[in-house]
Amino acid sequence: PIPSLKELFKNDFLIGTAMDARQIRKEDAVADALIQQQFNAVTPENCMKAENIQPGWDTYDFDLADQLVAYAQKNNMKVNAHTLIWHSQLPAFLHKIQDADSVRMYFENHISTVAGRYDGKVYSWDVVNEALNDDGTLRKSVFLDKLGDNYIVEAFRLAQKAAPHTKLYYNDYNIEQPAKRAGAIAIIKKIQAAGVRIDGVGIQGHWKAGAVPLKDVEESIKTFGALGIEVLFTELDLTVLPNPWDHSTADVSATAQGNEKMNPYATGLPDTVQQTLAKSYEDLFKLFVKYKKQIGRITFWGVNDGQSWLNDWPISGRTNYPLLFDRSFKPKSAFYKVIATANGR
Ligand code: G3I
Repeated sequence: PIPSLKELFKNDFLIGTAMDARQIRKEDAVADALIQQQFNAVTPENCMKAENIQPGWDTYDFDLADQLVAYAQKNNMKVNAHTLIWHSQLPAFLHKIQDADSVRMYFENHISTVAGRYDGKVYSWDVVNEALNDDGTLRKSVFLDKLGDNYIVEAFRLAQKAAPHTKLYYNDYNIEQPAKRAGAIAIIKKIQAAGVRIDGVGIQGHWKAGAVPLKDVEESIKTFGALGIEVLFTELDLTVLPNPWDHSTADVSATAQGNEKMNPYATGLPDTVQQTLAKSYEDLFKLFVKYKKQIGRITFWGVNDGQSWLNDWPISGRTNYPLLFDRSFKPKSAFYKVIATANGR
């Protein structure tokens, strides 16, 4: 068998993966074996999001979430539950609510019901997800709009009450960048100043192979760590594809499939790019190992390249290669570079 990430890093940090619905239902035996061999932490990719878990007002669907919790318990894995309060993937009924009182009622009921159900069963919650703009200001959302800018503190207060045995995290992307990082620091300090518990901050880690912002990541680990909370890397993947925003609209609007410019590796990843990806993962894990005292968990956003959301974002139908395992679950050179950072100590 291949080396095991969770074994090699067991004294450093948890090693996690996102699990999609098929994997939770154990529809893919190869994926299942690999998940059990490699990971000791799991995050539901979608099934605990608001639109899925409370699709109708006070109507809950806990089916997949319960299956995930049982799966993790059986296999000795920690569940990072994702996510309670997020501006996106909200149930349709919430978009129709206009008055602040009803939004508040939803907000309170959702947090206490969902976080309460899983207290003692999950390890941690992403209590609030992606509340910031890139400039560090609070993002427009139904919660900011109807509940005011104290809604994040309130979410943590409610989560703490409903889930006293569960770690509580703030999770966002790009918060390693200085301006957005300052916004995250302000959120964390505000929660702490209110006497409310926050246990960690999740840096999502959706970066680009060959362009990982290592200096900013290092600075962030130090700064967040100094606030007395854990640092987590929660959704790690490294795209190898061109960013449509760097290209002309003509390039982008052409269909992605068969479009050389937007989908250059439809038939396979050239060795040079494979090496670039591997080097980026190696650099990152060297940093993670260096700061293992501050870091609680590294989670990959998916098991293999074929299932990654990055094949379909921001344009769909592309062929991306952002993870450690290829489409047939074979470890890539990036996997072995990561393994080497554990062995090299
Ligand atoms: O399950 C339905 C299926 O029944 C339906 O036929 C199909 C048609 O579109 O949609 C399926 O649901 C999709 C779901 O993924 C499962 O594949 C949703 O449309 C799609 O919006 C959803 O995308 C997810 C996205 O978050 C939005 O929630 C991605 O899988 C997931 O990887 C992504 O994860 C987010 C994190 O939660 C937060 N940080 C960023 C990260 C990447 O966007």
